[in-house]
Amino acid sequence: MQESSIIHRRQFVKLGTFAATAALLPRTATAAAANTAAAAAAAPVGAPYVLPGLPYAHDALEPHIDKLTMEIHHGKHHAAYITNLNAALATVPDLAKQPLGKLLAGLPAVPDEALRGTLRNHGGGHWNHDFFWKSLAPAAQSGKPSAALAAALDASFGSLEACKKSFGEAATKRFGSGWAWLIVSPDGKLKITSSPNQDNPLMQGVVPAADLGSPLLALDVWEHAYYLHYQNRRPEYIAAWWNIVNWHAVSERFAAAKA
Ligand SMILES: [Fe+2]
Repeated sequence: MQESSIIHRRQFVKLGTFAATAALLPRTATAAAANTAAAAAAAPVGAPYVLPGLPYAHDALEPHIDKLTMEIHHGKHHAAYITNLNAALATVPDLAKQPLGKLLAGLPAVPDEALRGTLRNHGGGHWNHDFFWKSLAPAAQSGKPSAALAAALDASFGSLEACKKSFGEAATKRFGSGWAWLIVSPDGKLKITSSPNQDNPLMQGVVPAADLGSPLLALDVWEHAYYLHYQNRRPEYIAAWWNIVNWHAVSERFAAAKA
């Protein structure tokens, strides 16, 4: 399911109709459509990946994540990962044809060390941010875990609140830049992990074997994700972030991972 969320160049044509439809949509959806079309149009012709538009307006997550942070995070940081990923893939067209998740899962098979590092950092950066944006929703649309996910959270952690506490600890303790994850482990159980830089739970042979699995939820704890509004108060950012988790998306991922 993650692969369907990554925009390849061949989807660009569809995005043109997105812009044409924008005038018919509510303000939030209109802004999101404009983000998508502008981002796609900015990508060089022939590049395999384009910046996916946000599924909401830049200010839709306020007050929990502010508009300027979203504009820079998405329009500058995420865009830079894609630019560097495309540049790396231009030298290896066979790898460029692979779905990004598959490429990241098979990084040890990439023989060139420098290329492997670039794919790890910038391919991971694209995959993680695309996943992150789709993990979020305006607070009024956050929803709650499905019955099946709620039962699994209770079974693994005791309660949703206990899960949030453990997840928050993992996110807080991640030294420097990185991510916190809620995953389904290969044994089918839910688990909380964290990863440095742009590593993620798909990366076999890169992250510890115990941290591999199907991601359900991710939290970006790079300072670029929160510093403008929260400065050094990462725990405050983490606590506020729970208000804008898209539990519908998380529940759908859980159902797909268990199917
Ligand atoms: Fe980020």
